[in-house]
Amino acid sequence: MGSEKTFHMTPEEFRRHGHAVVDWIADYYARIESYPVLSRAEPGQIRASLPADPPAKGEPFPAILADVEKLILPGVTHWQSPNFYAYFPSNASGPAILGDLLSSGLGVQGMLWATSPACTELETHMLDWLVHMLGLPQKFLSTSSGGGVIQDTASSASLCALLAARERATNFASNQRGCDGKLVAYTSSQAHSSLEKGAQIAGIGRNNLRLIEVDETFAMRPEALARRVEQDYRAGLVPFFVCATVGTTSSNAIDPVPAIARICGEHKLWLHVDAAMSGTAALCPEFRHTHAGLELADSYCFNPHKWMFTNFDCDCFYVADRKALIQTLSVLPEYLRNKATETGAVIDYRDWQIPLGRRFRALKLWFVIRHYGVEGLQHHIRQHVAWAQKFADWVRKDDRFELAAPVPLNLVCFRHRGGDEINQSLMDRLNRSGDLYLTHTRLNERLTLRLCVGQTNTTARHVEKAWKRIQQEAAK
Ligand SMILES: Cc1ncc(COP(=O)(O)O)c(C=O)c1O
Repeated sequence: MGSEKTFHMTPEEFRRHGHAVVDWIADYYARIESYPVLSRAEPGQIRASLPADPPAKGEPFPAILADVEKLILPGVTHWQSPNFYAYFPSNASGPAILGDLLSSGLGVQGMLWATSPACTELETHMLDWLVHMLGLPQKFLSTSSGGGVIQDTASSASLCALLAARERATNFASNQRGCDGKLVAYTSSQAHSSLEKGAQIAGIGRNNLRLIEVDETFAMRPEALARRVEQDYRAGLVPFFVCATVGTTSSNAIDPVPAIARICGEHKLWLHVDAAMSGTAALCPEFRHTHAGLELADSYCFNPHKWMFTNFDCDCFYVADRKALIQTLSVLPEYLRNKATETGAVIDYRDWQIPLGRRFRALKLWFVIRHYGVEGLQHHIRQHVAWAQKFADWVRKDDRFELAAPVPLNLVCFRHRGGDEINQSLMDRLNRSGDLYLTHTRLNERLTLRLCVGQTNTTARHVEKAWKRIQQEAAK
């Protein structure tokens, strides 16, 4: 038996190559600022550099790792560069990377409590910790009627919320019979596109997702929501779901959740609050006002994988009534039956999400929270907000530029007063230079530049440099 042929990596080889990979990652972070932030690869360039056929014989590990450097890095946009200000961040950190590595090492598939009790129980515990850390409503605790679960993304969380809302509204009949085209959902015209996708997938239909108009701060107008709901009732339709956003993707607008919640309460509509990036700010008591009204929500999500130093993917999704979610998503085939499930004393997270299988994501959250402590997380979030506010001040003081939206937290929307072409060219030149990476949106029909301060390693020096570079390019 001992002489059986194997192609596997031995534990000793794994140890050696593993050390090399960790060294590589540490070196990568040390030199990350020497790369152009936005990859300069042309379409097809990376594929063209790869062999057409897979290797018939295995290759030595150092050769594989060397090819990461040679073939892959040119096609990488450096999301972990401190000069990354594009989109919303997808930040990582040492403890998260190591937690994720351990998750891979354990290779656990945590679909049921029984398939790895620690995977489920650590997750429940982390999600409860986060309720306290963010000052979320107590009803989201696992010890109350609700509870939290880690989803891959905010898109999945919103989809699960839509599905549970659909079932609650139809007394769990649409799971059996499908939808009849009468259910209507609402969100603002500034909400993330995942709501549209969710409405498609959940069988609601895009035509039945109302995009409610926004005010001058790009936040949903509650009176417009109320009018539209009334109109739909009069037309014989069935309003059932509202998604409010705390920190919209375009401009970080904060919908008036208390007023929206009152309308939802009046008509018994499911209220989901999407705080994908900005939820993390609630770690700091002084930013918790952004969560006003959350105690009236049926569900809520935020992404530690955006701004809480936890590698993609990690979205925390909470419901006030876990029974509605579980009844919506639970299907129990014989091969998954087990004693623990039957006792009713355990959580099976497969019933809280779309896929069956799930990774041990709670490990990286646990590592992040324990490494930084609440104090460390608050420190970095406060700094990001302070630097974004400083940047906004510089914009205000430069006659060539203007702010395009309020700056409640760490996203600055601004533009050159010279018009769309100038802004487009400014952004293109900055991004081509490799010195920083920022992206755009359209606000009030005008091209607007977005600078989001949220990358783990961004410091005051980087933000100052970004502003200098923007000024230099604008002067050209
Ligand atoms: C407000 C908001 N919701 C949802 C999403 C989608 O996030 P995810 O990639 O986790 O689905 C984003 C992404 O930026 C977002 O800004």
